[in-house]
Amino acid sequence: MAIYPKLIMDALEKVRYPGTGKNLVEMGMVEDNIRIDGNKVSFSLLFEKPTDPFIKSVVKSAEAAIITHAAELGEKGIDIKGNIEVRTRQAARPEPDKLLPEVKNIIAVSSGKGGVGKSTVAANLAVALTMQGYKVGLLDADIFGPSQPKMFHLEEARPYMEEVNGRELIQPAENYGVKVLSIGFFVNKEDAVLWRGAMASNALKQLIADANWGDLDYFLIDLPPGTSDIHLTMVQTLAITGAIVVSTPQEVALADARKGISMFLGEKINVPVLGLVENMAWFTPAELPENKYYIFGKEGGKRLAEELNIPLLGQIPIVQSICEGGDNGKPVALNPDSITGAAFQALAENVVDQIEYRNEHLDPTRRVVVSKK
Ligand SMILES: Nc1ncnc2c1ncn2[C@@H]1O[C@H](COP(=O)(O)OP(=O)(O)OP(=O)(O)O)[C@@H](O)[C@H]1O
Ligand SMILES: [Mg+2]
Repeated sequence: MAIYPKLIMDALEKVRYPGTGKNLVEMGMVEDNIRIDGNKVSFSLLFEKPTDPFIKSVVKSAEAAIITHAAELGEKGIDIKGNIEVRTRQAARPEPDKLLPEVKNIIAVSSGKGGVGKSTVAANLAVALTMQGYKVGLLDADIFGPSQPKMFHLEEARPYMEEVNGRELIQPAENYGVKVLSIGFFVNKEDAVLWRGAMASNALKQLIADANWGDLDYFLIDLPPGTSDIHLTMVQTLAITGAIVVSTPQEVALADARKGISMFLGEKINVPVLGLVENMAWFTPAELPENKYYIFGKEGGKRLAEELNIPLLGQIPIVQSICEGGDNGKPVALNPDSITGAAFQALAENVVDQIEYRNEHLDPTRRVVVSKK
């Protein structure tokens, strides 16, 4: 018996695409390129997205349906396994080393200890850099405790998808000239804390690879505290130009900052440390701007930077306005005439200088590649 195209189409009419109740022919997924060469049959199935979770199972079902249908008609030796080509309407995600082609510098903002002001520093640094004329994006990588939606007064933002070069990409939200993405835009806090490691790291990869970040001078990443799976995902996904470590002056915070710094500098990760930011360096009451009270100890961050021979990028005082700025979604850096606004503007200048120095003197960072066992 000869094999003919209608036999193939009849078989494929018996295969449903999951969740739709429609078969592959009705869905328009069978391309018009059925080739029959003796017993060998080949053709293409068209899927919407390269990330479609059903690709494998649909291809398997299609193969099985063709084999079964042919057997019913007395044709036993049909050669179809591995001959169905998968095509997708949307282009695939670029290769790992080709992500974010228009982003010039990627900066991780990190700390050892929690609550020392990473997110505050990341938000204000982003705003200060924008005010200095740079194009800036900020990724909130704190999947379990996102804070940038609030800091940027974007709690209500729901980024939409846009087609760019054949791919559906997430359009980052934007405020004060900074492009922002956070898992907080997509899921509520209660749901995210239940995520397992792989889910969190996939979500994070999507916010990087499937978003339209476009052309940026600086792409800042606000990391969760400590050294977590998220850190590992980041260094595996992106070649980070440099890391900024935030610490308060207390001994406990400094000890953790030291650990954070050695993680980046370690042989396996190998991300240059641009420097340390000493946050909550002293307290200054608004009515006595000349007075400095070293409530967490004096210049602990400065000493650590000297000891480790890394730059001290900035010292940010404790001021009520910083906290309020975070809470009401107006980063203090927007007001460069205030003490704190000026401190963040100076920090931004130092970061720009350090990045320039780093790019002149060191080779580009390499993404961490972990071989699969
Ligand atoms: N220099 C400062 N002066 C006053 N308040 C500050 C200062 N820096 C940070 N804060 C406040 O301290 C709190 C913690 O800051 P933030 O959320 O930035 O820390 P974090 O290191 O990102 O925390 P987490 O580890 O939870 O991510 C916030 O309420 C913030 O407004
Ligand atoms: Mg934070």
